[in-house]
Amino acid sequence: MSRNKTVYLCSECGADSPKWQGQCPACGAWNTLVESVAEMKSESQSRFLSLSSVAKAQPLSEIEAREAARVSTGIREFDRPLGGGLVAGGVALIGGDPGIGKSTLLLQTLAKLSERVPALYISGEESSEQVALRARRLGVAASRMGLLTEINLEKILAFLKSERPAVAVVDSIQTLWSEQLHSAPGSVAQVRECAAQLTRLAKQLAITIILVGHVTKEGALAGPRILEHIVDTVLYFEGDAHSSFRLIRAFKNRFGAVNELGVFAMTETGLKSVDNPSALFLSQHERDIPGAAILVTQEGVRPLLVEIQALVDGAHGNPRRLTVGLDAQRLAMLLAVLHRHAGIACFDQDVFINAVGGVRIIEPAADLAVALAIVSSLKNRALPEKLIVFGEVGLAGEIRPAPRGQERLKEAAKLGFSHAIIPKANLPRRPIPGITVTGVARIDEAVTCAANFSVS
Ligand code: TYD
Ligand code: MG
Repeated sequence: MSRNKTVYLCSECGADSPKWQGQCPACGAWNTLVESVAEMKSESQSRFLSLSSVAKAQPLSEIEAREAARVSTGIREFDRPLGGGLVAGGVALIGGDPGIGKSTLLLQTLAKLSERVPALYISGEESSEQVALRARRLGVAASRMGLLTEINLEKILAFLKSERPAVAVVDSIQTLWSEQLHSAPGSVAQVRECAAQLTRLAKQLAITIILVGHVTKEGALAGPRILEHIVDTVLYFEGDAHSSFRLIRAFKNRFGAVNELGVFAMTETGLKSVDNPSALFLSQHERDIPGAAILVTQEGVRPLLVEIQALVDGAHGNPRRLTVGLDAQRLAMLLAVLHRHAGIACFDQDVFINAVGGVRIIEPAADLAVALAIVSSLKNRALPEKLIVFGEVGLAGEIRPAPRGQERLKEAAKLGFSHAIIPKANLPRRPIPGITVTGVARIDEAVTCAANFSVS
């Protein structure tokens, strides 16, 4: 009988090593080796398997490509980032700050699903009473979903094997522990092992599993990086804790497109889908204020209008650059481009940037709005209230086009915006009723154009 042996796995590349080392021998990353159990191989398998069964490749053309059957979650805005619904045997990981609404959303989802398929909620964080209390608040207490409060992985696996639910939620992966490892729940080794075992079972029995994951202070999913490689779909729950709006974004999806957003509002009775989110992220001002520019961003199929705010203020000591919802490196680059190609210097200024409503903007088409908001704050001249902006700024000071320019303009016009400063290459062929569009090719041109619009 061979005993379970301990190996050390790299959390970056997955390579194993028999002993702990500071640096992964395979990929060279530091401090990434974590304790894990070695797979037991039976004698016959390891020695003869490679000789007896030779794997055969199949011509791609002969393989019947079938779309994976999807089960709608019953919540439209959750289906969206999932690429249309849950896939049997698919494993999704959903991360987000504490208190953002992960448990709430999943409880609501399972309640809907349990009307059609057997659904199981495995809670490692809250007691049955707490879950039941929340279910009552959400008005889903009468639902047929099963509830299991358990953190032992082996027991959970055995339960799943005997009960065979169609969908199971594990809340959260950090609370689970496997008897086969000595490390504590939530440790890298435990998280990785539990996720891998659950994923294997999901594929075997065609159970859809949704794992809830905690995030670190930096906002990344806690646990090893390879957790993201193990699962099929990685979703993030975003939003400002002080506003009621919540976004779900797909970062990885083996079954669909990424960057499709789901939009919710947190209410007294749980999360509600938001039908028309395009105007959610605009703050209502009494009058034009300096340092604000309205961006039309488009991730996925729906355009969103987001107010970008900048505050540029004289620095005392080292100038600070801070961003909320936007990339800080990108801000540094934009400031350099503004200086070099438009003669706008901020080296003795603090620069703060904020995307209103806690939305995170990843696409580079936000550049021009950020740049114009900075100039507006620096010069203390407001941009007109009914102006929208989008476009990517290049290092040479050029303004690059953004995808789906027409749709962005149409959405802005629909919401009553009357002017737009956009990349020249995005100029619509035919005028769009209600909106006057100015195309710009360079950053200095954009700054001049905005100055002509500005009101002091
Ligand atoms: P929760 O789902 O527990 O967050 P997570 O699992 O991501 O940590 O979110 C709970 C928060 O949402 C809590 O602060 C209260 C709020 N909430 C509502 O506003 N309305 C509701 O109906 C529920 C159930 C929670
Ligand atoms: Mg929770």
